[in-house]
Amino acid sequence: MGKTLELAAIMKEDAVRPEHTGGKKWEILHGDTLRLVNAFEPGVFDAVITDPPYASGGTKQNERNRMTNQKYSSMKQGNALPDFDGDNKDQRSWMHWMAEWLYDVRKACKSGAPICLFIDWRQYPSITDALQWAGWIWRGTAVWDKGNSRPQKGRFRQQAEYIVWGSNGAMPISRPVSCLPGVFRYGNPQNRIHVTEKPLQLMRDVVQICESGGLILDPFAGAGTTVLAAVQEGYQAVGIEVTDAYYKLGTDRIRYALEEANQERGEG
Ligand SMILES: C[S@@+](CC[C@H](N)C(=O)[O-])C[C@H]1O[C@@H](n2cnc3c(N)ncnc32)[C@H](O)[C@@H]1O
Repeated sequence: MGKTLELAAIMKEDAVRPEHTGGKKWEILHGDTLRLVNAFEPGVFDAVITDPPYASGGTKQNERNRMTNQKYSSMKQGNALPDFDGDNKDQRSWMHWMAEWLYDVRKACKSGAPICLFIDWRQYPSITDALQWAGWIWRGTAVWDKGNSRPQKGRFRQQAEYIVWGSNGAMPISRPVSCLPGVFRYGNPQNRIHVTEKPLQLMRDVVQICESGGLILDPFAGAGTTVLAAVQEGYQAVGIEVTDAYYKLGTDRIRYALEEANQERGEG
C-alpha cells in the first residue's frame, strides 16, 4: 500500500546521509535538526508535527538548567528514563534557536503545509513569536488536556499543554482534510519510554491535519511517537533525533510496533 519512502528522493544529492533507521514508510535520522534540515530538498514535506525541547520546567534559570528527568519526571532514580539533550537554553537562546530551525524547516515544506508545535504555558508566548519570525502564519492553538495534574491550593491546575499551529503561507479551505477538534483529552502514557512522551492516540489525532498519505516531518522525534502515529494513520514520516539513547529506543519501538501489526494482519 502506497510508495516506499526513499531518502534519496527527499535529500539533496550532495548531502551526507547521517546514521538512519527506517522501514517502508518511515525513517529516523540520528543527528541535530539545525544541521540536518538543510540537507532536504526544498518543498518535500506536507506537514511538520513536533514537540521540541521546551527549555522550561521552572521560572528561574537555575531551575531550567536541571536535567530533564529532574524537571519533567517524578520517577525514582532507579527507574529513571534517559535524559535528553537541548533543554537547557536560556530564554533568548531558545527563541533564537527556535526561529532558526523553524525558518530552515519551512524551506523544506510545500507551500500551504501545516505545522503543529507542542508547548507548555511558560513558553507559549515565545513560541508564537518564533513561529512568525520564521515566516509561518500562526493560525491558532489547540489544547491537550492531560486530565490529571497536581492540585495547587489557591491556583488553577496546570493540566494542559498546547498545540500551536499554523501554515507555510496560504492554507486553502478546500484542502481535503476534515474538521478537527480544538481540545484533545488523553492522559500521559502509562508505560512510557521517553521522559516527555506524548500519548500515541493523541498523535494519531493530530497528524490528521496533514492531507491523507502526505509526508510528515518530526524534527524532534524522541521516542518516535509522531512517526509511529503517522505511519499507523497511512502517512509517510521522517523523524530527527539527536540523543543517542532515544534514537535507539524510538527506532526499536517503531519497528516492533509495525512488525507486530503486520504479523497480526498476516503480512509477515
Ligand atoms: C520533547 S522531546 C520529544 C518527545 C516525543 N514527542 C515523544 O513522544 O517521544 C524532544 C526531543 O528532541 C530531541 N532533541 C533536542 N535537541 C535536538 C536537536 N537539536 N536535533 C534533534 N533532536 C533534538 C531530544 O533529544 C528529545 O528526545
